[in-house]
Amino acid sequence: MADTKATLTIGDATKDYDILDGSVGPQVIDVRKLYANTGMFTYDPGFTSTASCESNITYIDGDEGILLHRGYPIEQLAEQSSFMEVAYLLMNGDLPDKETLDKFTYTITRHTMVHEQLSTFYRGFRRDAHPMAILCGVVGALSSFYHDSTDINDPLQRTIASHRLIAKMPTIAAMAYKYSVGQPFLYPRNDLSYTGNFLRMTFGVPAEEYVVDPVVEAAMDKIFILHADHEQNASTSTVRLAGSSGANPFACIAAGIACLWGPAHGGANEAALNMLREIGTPDRIPEYIARAKNKDDPFRLMGFGHRVYKNFDPRAKVLSKAASEVLDKLGINDPVLDTARELEQIALNDPYFIEKKLYPNVDFYSGVILSAIGFPTEMFTVLFALARTVGWVAQWNEMISDPAQKIGRPRQLYTGPAQRDYVPVAQR
Ligand code: CMC
Repeated sequence: MADTKATLTIGDATKDYDILDGSVGPQVIDVRKLYANTGMFTYDPGFTSTASCESNITYIDGDEGILLHRGYPIEQLAEQSSFMEVAYLLMNGDLPDKETLDKFTYTITRHTMVHEQLSTFYRGFRRDAHPMAILCGVVGALSSFYHDSTDINDPLQRTIASHRLIAKMPTIAAMAYKYSVGQPFLYPRNDLSYTGNFLRMTFGVPAEEYVVDPVVEAAMDKIFILHADHEQNASTSTVRLAGSSGANPFACIAAGIACLWGPAHGGANEAALNMLREIGTPDRIPEYIARAKNKDDPFRLMGFGHRVYKNFDPRAKVLSKAASEVLDKLGINDPVLDTARELEQIALNDPYFIEKKLYPNVDFYSGVILSAIGFPTEMFTVLFALARTVGWVAQWNEMISDPAQKIGRPRQLYTGPAQRDYVPVAQR
C-alpha cells in the first residue's frame, strides 16, 4: 500500500481511499468501500480504468509496448521457449527444470484423447458450421463428460480439469476442421510434440503417414506462445466472470471461446486476412484507409488498434518478422504479405492513425502465416482459442484460489423509468 491516499470530495464531505501498489505498472485506487461510504458507484463502461482483480500472471505496459508473462518478455519466450514450457510457466509461476517440463509434457500428452462419445456431437453440426461454433458447443459439452474434475474447491481437481482442457483442445480443434472438410477424425499420437500432434490430426489422413515439417511445427508453436495469455482481456474476463459463480470449468472455457469469437477480439485474425485478400493489390489500399477514417462507415482496419497498446503490439513485431521467415522457408510467395506491409506503412504514416495511436496488433500478421501453413481463414480464431486456453485456465485457477474472490457483480447507472403503476391493456 502506498503512503499517499486518494481523497474524494463530494460536496462538503471528504473520504480517503487507499492507493495500492503493484510490483510494476500503475497504482490502483481501492474503491471497494465507495458505495458503503457514499451511496455512489463508479461508472466505467468497457472497464477502461478499472482493475477487476489482482493477478501475478501477465503484465502489459501499453505505452511502451511491453508484454511479460510471469516477468519474462514475450520476445524471449517466442524465440527461445516452447508452448508446453510457456503453458507450465503461466500455470505455475516459474520456468520448469528439464525433469519437471518432461513430466508436465507427459501428463498433457496422456490427456489428448477425447471420450469416444464426444465425437458423435460433431455429426449434429451442419458441415458448413463455423468451426468456432463447433468449438464452443463441443467444449461446453465436455462439462457433461468429466465429472471427476469439477469440484472447483479441490486444487487437484482444478489441475486435472486444466490439464484436460489444454490437452484436448488440439484434438477438438482438429476434429472441427476434419468435420468441415469431410475427412475422418484422426486419433492423437503420443510420440509427437503437442504442436506436431495437432498438425498431424489436422492435415494428416489415415491412408498415409504424415511427416511433421519442422518449419511448420516451429512456426505454429511460436504462434501458440504469442496467443497464450494477455492479461484481463474480454475473453479472460468472461472466463473469470463465469467462473466467479462457481460454474463448471469446461463451461467457463466455452464462455471464453464465445467471447473470443467476436471480430473486435480473437475474430480479428480471420477478419484481417479476409480484409487483406479483399484489398488484393496495394493500389486499393487508399480506398480502405479512407473507409477506416470515415466516421459514417462502420469499417475498421482489422488487425489495427488495441485497448491497451498505444504503441506496437510486441506480438505483432515478432509475427511480422516470422511471416517473412516462414514464407521464405516454405517457398511461398503470397502477395497478401506485400499488401500487409504496404498497408502497415501507409497507416503508420497517416495522421489519423498517428493521432489515435493505432498500430498493428497480434491479428495483423498471424493470418499470413496460418494461411501459408494451409489453414482456411475460419480456423484462425480456433487456433487462437486453442492457445488462449492455457491463459484462461491459469487465470481461472488464480481467481478460484484468491481469498478475495467474490462473485462478479457489476452495478449500473440506471436511466429507465422510475417506479410507475401498471395500466390494464384496455386503458392504454
Ligand atoms: N480502424 C479505424 N479506426 C480505429 C480502429 C481501426 N482498427 N481502432 C480504433 N479506431 C478508432 C476508433 O474509431 C476511435 O476513434 P474516435 O476516438 O474518433 O471515436 C479510436 O480509434 C479509439 O477506438 P475505440 O474503439 O474507442 O478503442 P477501443 O479500445 O474500445 O477498441 C479495438 C480497441 C481493438 C476493439 C479497436 O482498435 C478495433 O476495433 N480494432 C480492430 C479489430 C481488431 O484488430 N481487434 C483485435 C485486437 S488485438 C487481439 C485481441 O484482443 O484478441
